Parts: sequence; structure tokens; C-alpha cells
Amino acid sequence: MAKKLKVGIIGTGGIANAHLNSYLRMEDEVEIVGGSDIVSGKAREFFDKAGLTKVKAFDNNTDLLKLGLDAVSICTYNTTHAECTIAALEAGVHVLCEKPMSVTLEDAIKMYNKSKETGKILTIGFQPRYDPNMDLVRDIVRSGTLGDIYYIQTGGGRRRGMPGGTFIRKELSGVVHLQTLVAILLTWCSLQSGTQSLLQYRHLPLIILARTQNTALKQNILQ
Ligand SMILES: NC(=O)c1ccc[n+]([C@@H]2O[C@H](COP(=O)([O-])OP(=O)(O)OC[C@H]3O[C@@H](n4cnc5c(N)ncnc54)[C@H](O)[C@@H]3O)[C@@H](O)[C@H]2O)c1
Repeated sequence: MAKKLKVGIIGTGGIANAHLNSYLRMEDEVEIVGGSDIVSGKAREFFDKAGLTKVKAFDNNTDLLKLGLDAVSICTYNTTHAECTIAALEAGVHVLCEKPMSVTLEDAIKMYNKSKETGKILTIGFQPRYDPNMDLVRDIVRSGTLGDIYYIQTGGGRRRGMPGGTFIRKELSGVVHLQTLVAILLTWCSLQSGTQSLLQYRHLPLIILARTQNTALKQNILQ
């Protein structure tokens, strides 16, 4: 049997559960070795709650990165993605970083360059990219059947209402989440007009239309 991949998790908050559960489903290929969180005791509690009492837990990332990991999930606030990713790459560890990549273009470039410099893989967790439906759409677009695409319409919805936690705290998320922004605007508009909040109509999707002639954006989408 091939050697198991030794993985760790940096930032043991909400989304870390999705990473943990996915790694647990790959138990033949993956061994969860450790995790860290800047909040003292949080990583220990996270693993204990999952019954993983032997997995090592730290209150700092430096000690975690000394464990000889093959790969690490970065599940911290957006504003700390760059520093955590760069530290992991420098320690010789492949990185799966949560989305968004970073909050500034400069940080994103530093992360990309560090990955190239160290020869370690850096992947951003845009999960739809690995969705077979997306592959199908991409294949159709690349086949040329649809001709030259000049207009894209996309939609999204959040049935659970406004997200809370660090998502909407600008000092931690670095940016206001786009969907959250739309939700806030809808609420504000309905309040201004004195009608019931549109967000109470949970079945209503939020639709965002995009029209572009921007070649760089188009190339990015089709890559
Ligand atoms: N892919 C998705 O669908 C999806 C869904 C939700 C959240 N996210 C992303 O996941 C990330 C985390 O979101 P969340 O909801 O889990 O937030 P959260 O606040 O619940 O968890 C973040 C954790 O990171 C820890 N942390 C912060 N800085 C750290 C550092 N330098 N070193 C170690 N630990 C640190 C915090 O103490 C906290 O426990 C965000 O970037 C968010 O955009 C992605």
C-alpha cells in the first residue's frame, strides 16, 4: 500500500470541520497528524470532539509545521491566509488554502511565487472547480460548440439568511462577502421602502448578472 499522506489543519473553526470530515473519508490515503489554532485550547477541543484524541494540537503554527507534514489545510480568517500559507510552503508543506486566496492582489502574488520557489503545491479551495458539472460546462465551452462566449449569467442564494461570525467582520474577512453585500443591500432597500425584508422570502434566489468584454477575466473563467 502507498504511504499515507500526513496532513494537518491550521485554524480549527467552522470550515475546518468540512476538511476534517473529508480527510476522515480518505482514511486509506490520509493520516490526520495535527492541527493548530491561535485561540488557546481550540485545536485540542476540535480534535477531541471528533474522537481524535491522539492527533496533536497546538496553539501556534510553528510547532505544527515541525511535525513533518506532507500537506496542510489553511482554514483561518481571510486576512491570515497569506501568512499561514507562506509559512507552510517555507516549511516544505503542500497547501490547500480556503477561499478566497487572500484579501489583496499583492498577497496572492506572494503566495503564488512562494509556491513556485519552494516547489510545493498551492491549491485554493474553490470547490465548484472540482464539480463534475463544472467540468462538463468547461468541456462544452472548450469544444467551441457555443462559439465565442460574450455573456454570462450567474445566480446564487443563501437560504439560511445572513452569515454571522468572522464572515462579516471586515477586520478578519478583509472584504465584505459579495453575497452578504447583496443581502445587506436588499435588506436596506426593503427597509427604506417600508416593506418586509426580502430576506424573509427565503425561496427567492439572489441573481447577479455579469457582462464582460474583459479578455483577462474571460480567459480566467475558461482556464
Ligand atoms: N469553501 C467554503 O464553502 C467556505 C465556507 C465557509 C468558510 N470558508 C472560508 O474558510 C475560512 C474560515 O472560515 P470559518 O467560517 O471557518 O471561520 P472561523 O472564524 O469559524 O474559523 C477560523 C479559525 O481560524 C483561527 N485562526 C485565525 N488566524 C489564525 C492563525 N494565524 N493561525 C491559526 N489559527 C488562526 C481562528 O482562531 C478560528 O478558530 C474563511 O477564509 C472563509 O472564507 C469557506
